[in-house]
Amino acid sequence: MADLIDPITGAAAEPQPTGRKAHPKKVREVPESLKKFREIHAAAAAGGPPEKIEAQRKKGKLTARERIAYLVDEGTFQELGLLMESRCTDFGIKDKHIKGDGVITGFGKVNGRLAAIFSEDFTQLGGSLGRTHADKITKLMDMAADIKVPVIGILDSGGARIQEGVDSLDGYGEIFLRNTRYSGVVPQISIIVGPCAGGAVYSPALTDFVFMVKGMSNMFVTGPEVVKAATGEEVDFETLGGSMTHASKSGVCHFVANSEPDCYRQVKELMSFLPQSRLEAAPGMETRDPGDRKIALLEKLCEVDPRRPYRVHHIVWWLSDDHRFLEVHHDYAKNIVVGFIRLGGQVVGVIANNPAQMAGALDINASDKAARFIRFLNNFNIPILTLVDVPGYWPGVAQEHGGIIRHGAKLLYAYSEATVPKVTLVLRKAYGGAYIAMSSKLMGGDINFSLPSAEIAVMGPRGAIEILYSRQIKEAKEEEREALRVKLAKEYSDKFASPYQTASMGSIDEVIEPAQARERLISAFRVLAGKRRPGTHERTGNIPL
Ligand code: HXC
Repeated sequence: MADLIDPITGAAAEPQPTGRKAHPKKVREVPESLKKFREIHAAAAAGGPPEKIEAQRKKGKLTARERIAYLVDEGTFQELGLLMESRCTDFGIKDKHIKGDGVITGFGKVNGRLAAIFSEDFTQLGGSLGRTHADKITKLMDMAADIKVPVIGILDSGGARIQEGVDSLDGYGEIFLRNTRYSGVVPQISIIVGPCAGGAVYSPALTDFVFMVKGMSNMFVTGPEVVKAATGEEVDFETLGGSMTHASKSGVCHFVANSEPDCYRQVKELMSFLPQSRLEAAPGMETRDPGDRKIALLEKLCEVDPRRPYRVHHIVWWLSDDHRFLEVHHDYAKNIVVGFIRLGGQVVGVIANNPAQMAGALDINASDKAARFIRFLNNFNIPILTLVDVPGYWPGVAQEHGGIIRHGAKLLYAYSEATVPKVTLVLRKAYGGAYIAMSSKLMGGDINFSLPSAEIAVMGPRGAIEILYSRQIKEAKEEEREALRVKLAKEYSDKFASPYQTASMGSIDEVIEPAQARERLISAFRVLAGKRRPGTHERTGNIPL
């Protein structure tokens, strides 16, 4: 005689006391259809064969399902397409009956907010992308764009599924199309936790933020062997396309994690700053940090030698609510710093010159980095705070030949195009073209402040006097030249290198008490809060710059 079975869970069920007269036990066999359903689901949910899962673990990697579990709030993941299989009949793929076709897709809540998530399963055909695999991803992306929620992709794949030929290449094409169409519509995040090779790298590159894990993630268009055959260069995977290479050299990667759990923690932190779509404002957060907290550090800045370098991060930390600053692109173009803070509870994107690196000068990479971030902020209704301490553009043949004109222009374009509230604070130097570029008033800054220590001029005093007084300097006796330079530079500084002339022209709205900077910035953003209603402005997209 069969046991009493709970029809939902399949477990042996305890008879429930009813208080009524006991009836003879009813015994139900699990129907065949239910048995089959459970078997199929259990097998599909297990992923690849045990030896492949073991191999995955040996590499220190989580399984595709474990990754989702790290990311989403417990019990919130709603999977779609678990049973989908490849329709390819070549090379015996169909006979393998790989349920899910190497990718898990669905919706789950991240910190209580819905997101579309796909996670490639390397234990099934190396997570390679076949037609069905691609269809699952594109369907998910279409739904996310309709529902207006972010898309998070977890990538661990051998690339285009070789057995499926051009069909798999077309699958990538359809993903790229959607990455682009939905750019600036919903936030898109890519997490690389394994190989990502060939044209496959272009999907993450089209998304807004790329995460990589040290020693685990690789991205390259052609691998070490092809590189060697084509150019003779010998290079290993990590040097060619590891996390630090892309975080510090190519700029493809925005966030590097030490481990997978650390990576998902960072993704969640980023998500806490982002709106669900361009139709929403970024999530505010109440803070106990007083809006009128004094910033003694900025008083000190007025005292120090203007040539002394400092990390602008310190200023960002002091200004922001609870000293919390999520830096984006930490290892790339360190002469400019970008990231998210909250001011008075509201999310703000920060762009700040960093005098600790190349004196904070703008160069090709800094221009690209800042311009792309500004375009992201503008698309997603996030106000922009610009902290200026910039001596100009980095000089040199390499910069000129590399296209500093073209790349620098992207920064001007991004700032000018941005219609979100823009508040600028000049901390110290703001010289020449770089002064204009860094969200100056006449290029669309809404409220532009300056500290009393600011030097706003066409160029630095030393450079200016060499041009203005070149004859006098040449004609002076050798031993008197330096003293003359110091005198002329001081005269120039007194006249031009202060914020007062600029303020008298209205290009600086106000010179502020340094210690009150936080309070003034918060109130400036409050004044500007109604500047643009979310969703009423044309989308520009977030083209990779
Ligand atoms: C089909 C693939 C595959 C692929 C891996 N596998 N990549 N199957 N198509 N692209 C399969 C393997 O055959 C193997 O199957 C299983 O996945 C695990 O792979 P291993 O090689 O055992 O794993 P590992 O040693 O960790 O090496 C991982 C790897 C390597 C570095 C990714 O598998 C590899 O080099 N794969 C090929 C990468 C590649 O050239 N892809 C095409 C890129 S071109 P079994 O049955 O043994 O478990 C491309 C174009 C995109 O993607 C263009 C878009 C526009």
